[in-house]
Amino acid sequence: MNLSEHIKDPLFILLSEAAEEMDVRCCLVGGYVRDIFLMVSSQDIDIVTVGKGIELAELVAAKLGKSTRVNVFKNFGTAQLRYGDFELEFVGARRESYQRESRKPIVEDGSLEDDLRRRDFTINAMAVSLNKADYGELIDPFDGRNDLRKKILRTPCDPDLTFSDDPLRMMRALRFATTLQFNIDSATFEAIRRNKERISIVSAERIIDEIQKMMMAERPSKGFQLMDRSGLLDIILPELAALKGVETKDGKGHKDNFLHTLAVLDKVAAQSDNIYLRWAALLHDIAKPLCKRWDDKLGWTFHNHNFLGEKKIPGIFRRLKLPMNEHMKYVQKLVGLHMRPIALVEEEVSDSAVRRLLFDAGDDIEDLMILCEADITSKNPLKVQRFLENFQLVRRKMIDLEERDRIRNMQPPVSGEEIMDTFNLPPGKLVGEIKNSIKDAILDGLIPNEYGAARDFMLQKGRELGLEPHEQEGSSS
Ligand code: CTP
Repeated sequence: MNLSEHIKDPLFILLSEAAEEMDVRCCLVGGYVRDIFLMVSSQDIDIVTVGKGIELAELVAAKLGKSTRVNVFKNFGTAQLRYGDFELEFVGARRESYQRESRKPIVEDGSLEDDLRRRDFTINAMAVSLNKADYGELIDPFDGRNDLRKKILRTPCDPDLTFSDDPLRMMRALRFATTLQFNIDSATFEAIRRNKERISIVSAERIIDEIQKMMMAERPSKGFQLMDRSGLLDIILPELAALKGVETKDGKGHKDNFLHTLAVLDKVAAQSDNIYLRWAALLHDIAKPLCKRWDDKLGWTFHNHNFLGEKKIPGIFRRLKLPMNEHMKYVQKLVGLHMRPIALVEEEVSDSAVRRLLFDAGDDIEDLMILCEADITSKNPLKVQRFLENFQLVRRKMIDLEERDRIRNMQPPVSGEEIMDTFNLPPGKLVGEIKNSIKDAILDGLIPNEYGAARDFMLQKGRELGLEPHEQEGSSS
């Protein structure tokens, strides 16, 4: 099969000429070739040469112009350069043997086929010649093309060897299966189960990279199902594994919170590309196992699992090497608030409760509503319909109240300084109490969100607390 139609960019012609000058076998390899068949455009170009990889990179850089810099990694026999949007990586074909407890390869020169055999999956072990004599010819010794057609992930050599060479590949298998919607060949999957403990030698940064890619799939749940079935979930995210299972007492069972969580995750993913909203969906019930109680009257309860969940987020983020910044705070906030709209719907949709929700959620209110709507996974269609209709009511009220009272990003109209100045108070609890009472009065609809009304309310509150407004400086002397 000839793919020269797909490698027409002048960059490839230049690569071909450089290889000709050096008389070196040179091929495109890996993801770029796979993506030609998947009809996905890619900027990452991996080049494999038989010997002289670094020298070829240097010659290509010279041809591209003086400003092109080559980064050489002598230990690995690789070189990288950037050209426009393209990221090129050159590697000499190798017959790799790995040290058992580290990812650092001992490089040994090999043939093109040796090199392809030691790659992760057959779909990533295809090459396309850049040499003049057979420019564009597909080299596919492990039938990757066929596996692509059948949507199968399979290792080119003994999977135990492939995964012990680089255990990150276990996560790559699950990630590709999730994002490409491929199946994992059974021998390959069995090897993942056997080698799962080896994931411990891989850095958290590289693991989370794969999970983040999984998270952005159309249906991320598949990745977590596969992590569960392979045993990797217990090692990487035991908190999520702990959500599995149903306990029954007196004939009453609770739902399987793992399956529920995955259903919520997929529903959120269908609504939003915000990766941290997806994380909030994945972690929204994470504290349920810790809060599970049996109550003779109520049955199974999970009181306060939202607040405890909020507290657990930083520890999970830290361990997984997710960012400890405003993204984490956002996930915490959504997990903490995720019961609020539902409680609101179950009770009565009062203006005051809607204003409070708007105030607490601020600009994240829409994301919170997406999460809460997704959280309704009941099998009873009447119940679902009732919830969704009530959510519509909540949404309408939110729009009305926000228009009228501008609650979402409300700064109380009277500041702490003004309270201190008015009553001649030092900073302290009392100031906070007055300020909060103004906020509450606005949220409860007792006064409008306006300066004059808020100042009057402050003076009245002060009187109730036995405080007198003090004379402004200068007015009494
Ligand atoms: N590769 C491998 N084992 C790994 C990582 C990479 O064998 N742990 C090989 C595969 O042949 C892969 C190529 O190196 O196709 C390039 O790797 P990389 O750029 O990391 O991945 P891609 O396959 O291009 O896909 P993605 O960019 O989606 O990760």
